[in-house]
Amino acid sequence: MDKLRILGERPLHGSIAASGAKNAALPLMAASLLSAQPIELDNAPQLMDVRTLGAILEGMGVDVARQGSRVRLHAAHVRERFAPYERVKTMRASVLVLGPLVARFGEARVSLPGGCAIGARPVDQHIKGLRQLGAQVDVEHGYIVATVPSGRLKGARISTDMITVTGTENLMMAACLADGETVIENAAQEPEVADLAAMLVKMGAHIDGAGTSRIRIQGVEALGGAAHRIVPDRIEVGTFLCAALATRGDITVQACVPTHLDALLDKLREAGADIAGGADWIRVKADAMPGARARAVSVRTSEYPGFATDMQAQFMAVNCLADGAAHVTETIFENRFMHVQELVRLGARIAIEGNTCVVQGVPRLSGATVMATDLRASAGLVIAGLAAEGETIIERIYHLDRGYDAMEHKLGRLGASIERLR
Ligand code: EPU
Repeated sequence: MDKLRILGERPLHGSIAASGAKNAALPLMAASLLSAQPIELDNAPQLMDVRTLGAILEGMGVDVARQGSRVRLHAAHVRERFAPYERVKTMRASVLVLGPLVARFGEARVSLPGGCAIGARPVDQHIKGLRQLGAQVDVEHGYIVATVPSGRLKGARISTDMITVTGTENLMMAACLADGETVIENAAQEPEVADLAAMLVKMGAHIDGAGTSRIRIQGVEALGGAAHRIVPDRIEVGTFLCAALATRGDITVQACVPTHLDALLDKLREAGADIAGGADWIRVKADAMPGARARAVSVRTSEYPGFATDMQAQFMAVNCLADGAAHVTETIFENRFMHVQELVRLGARIAIEGNTCVVQGVPRLSGATVMATDLRASAGLVIAGLAAEGETIIERIYHLDRGYDAMEHKLGRLGASIERLR
């Protein structure tokens, strides 16, 4: 299994470009199932999760062609409306094929995702919403089995019990091909939801309000093809910005959307970083902070536009080295502190109290061997390793490969000493 070897205490300097967002690429790829015409995606990140969904779609008969950052998906001849356990268990977001399959073909058999390192993560809201749209949905032998007795979904008013990102995406996609109007209340407002809606509209869908908590969809008979550039990955960008602050560096990230990172940028400023930005770039300068250390800053995760749970581990790494104590509260997932004991191995002082971590900043971390447990936890460990004194080895970095495009190359370009051990 690949590992990362990092020699820490080198401030990051220089400029890199953001990749396309994993969490936008996946629903956009799934949306190809809604049409017999081709979808052309640009700015696709090179990631294991993108390959996994590509393989699931190919298994159904979708023609998937990839060239660099371009992916062309053509679902003209879908033979199977089936997503097997073997694939879904490696990537929960595979459940995104459910809504499109039911809407276009009136049937789907998709493995029920199991538990996950960061929480139980049920998909009951996806199922409830599809039932409200007229699908008959059962769970049999570990599979979600959905059919549409009337042949076609019917628009409905749906209010999800909690805000769910992929749930909103699944239901929005399904509603595009339903008869009549669907209103999704309590919808997720993430930029990736808005990006998906933007492509669906190019395909001929009628959608209003994506990016707000109420999305209105007027169903259409059929959708066409589209070409679409995937929105930049705000979590990747945020991860690099935290790395710059933790190493007291000065970096610029190009090709991003700064307004998607408002909550994080506020916290980075509070911590003492000097932030500048334009329409599509952000610079974090942390090499001349007063007192030379970041200030401890408390955060509480919440749905967009709040502080992203996907940035919690990375920001905790920053707090580990800050001056003072901070509270880091996780409200979205019940088990997203798996990085804490690994950060402690690097010398961090963290106490877990329920869904809050009390992080007492220390002046320095010391390199050690640590283990990655999920994607964003791994990113937090990389940041801590970059800032720690001496050598850090990070094991099980396949988690990172699922969601960060060329991370070690980008960090290397910024002056980090980082190499992959195979
Ligand atoms: N939930 C339910 N029932 C449902 C759906 C969600 O109880 O039917 C709960 C979840 O268990 C969780 C909360 O609602 O406690 C929010 O979950 P959500 O459905 O929003 O998460 P998701 O759609 O499965 C996406 C991202 C995650 C990100 C979360 C939260 C994708 C492909 N994944 O997951 O990204 O953490 O939203 O923002 O978009 C990552 O990239 O590392 C990652 C985990």
